[in-house]
Amino acid sequence: MNPHPLIETARTLVAGDRGLLAMDESTPTCNKRFAAFGIAQTAEMRRAYRDMIVTTPGLSESISGAILYDETIRQRTHAGLPFAVALQQVGIVPGIKVDNGARPLAAFDGEVVTEGLDGLRERLAEYAGMGARFAKWRAVIRIDAGRPTPGCLLANAHALARYATLCQEAGLVPIVEPEVLMDGGHTLERCREVTEETLGIVFAQLVALRVRLEGMLLKPNMVLPGKDCPDQSDTETIAAATVECFLRSVPAAVPGIAFLSGGQTAELASTRLNAMNARYRSRLPWSLAFSYARAIQQPALETWRGIDANVPAAQQQLAHRAACNRAARAGRYDAGTDAPLQT
Ligand code: 13P
Repeated sequence: MNPHPLIETARTLVAGDRGLLAMDESTPTCNKRFAAFGIAQTAEMRRAYRDMIVTTPGLSESISGAILYDETIRQRTHAGLPFAVALQQVGIVPGIKVDNGARPLAAFDGEVVTEGLDGLRERLAEYAGMGARFAKWRAVIRIDAGRPTPGCLLANAHALARYATLCQEAGLVPIVEPEVLMDGGHTLERCREVTEETLGIVFAQLVALRVRLEGMLLKPNMVLPGKDCPDQSDTETIAAATVECFLRSVPAAVPGIAFLSGGQTAELASTRLNAMNARYRSRLPWSLAFSYARAIQQPALETWRGIDANVPAAQQQLAHRAACNRAARAGRYDAGTDAPLQT
C-alpha cells in the first residue's frame, strides 16, 4: 500500500542527504537584510533576489524543498514562471510560510505569541492551489530571567498545533518551528532545559489536537549557549547535547528534524550538523536535516548586492553552501576546507 500523500511528502523533504532552503523572509526582514548592503528595498528587487536563488544551477542536487513568502509565491521568475512552478520544474518541492509573525502576548510582559490562525483554512487552500505542498509556522521563545513562562509556551504550542492540523486537513505538510532564540547570555545547559520543556509542550499539544506525526517535520534550534555567554561550547558538546535533548523529546514517528540556523555563521551551522550526523546518524529514529535561511543565503546575498553582473558568482556561493550542508547530513563536511570531503 502506498503511504498517505502527506507522509510521502514529509519523507521526500528529508530523503537522501538533501535539505530545505528557507527563503521566506517577510518583506520587513528581507528589506532589513537588503539595507545592510545598500540594496533597493522594492518588490522588484526582492523578486530579482529570489529569482537568482531559484535559478541557481544544480540547486536541486542539495535542496529538496524551498519555503516561499506570500509576496514571492505570487511573483514570477524572469522566465515568466510562477515561483512555485519554477521550483517544481527543477525538482524542488515548493512550500509557504503562513504565520503572520510574533506579537506581544497579553498579560505576559516581554513574551510573544505567533499569530495568523484567523482565515488560515482559506489561505492554505489558496496556497495549495498555487502548488505549495508544505507550510511553515515559527514560534519565538526567548530565554531571560524567569522566561519563558509556562503560559507563553502553552500559547505558542497550542497555536502550532492548531496550524498543523489545518495544514494536514488541506493536504500540506506542516513544518512545526518552535525557535528558542540564541539571544542572551544563557548557558548551553539552560538552552537544553528550555528546548526540552518547549518540545515537551509542543508534542503534547500536537498529539492532543490530532496531528499526524508521520506527516509533519520539526524545525527546531540546535542546543547552543546564548550569543553573549562567555562559555561558547565546542562542537562535540553541542552535538551531544542537541542529540540527547531531541532523543528525549521527539517521537520516533516524526520523519525528520530540519534545523534552523538562528544566527550561527554558515560554517558553524554546517560543522555542527555534520558532527551530529557523523557521530549519531546510525542510532537516530529520525533524519537530522537542515532548513537554513541565513546559513545558506548570507554569502550569496553579500556577493549579489543587487547587481545583475554578480548573479553567477552569487549562485556559486549559494550552491556551495547548499552542497556543504548536504555533505553535513552525510557526516562528510570538512570544516577545515569548508567543503564536502573528497573521496
Ligand atoms: P535561519 O536559518 O536564518 O535562522 O532562518 C530559518 C527560518 O526559516 C526562520 O523561520
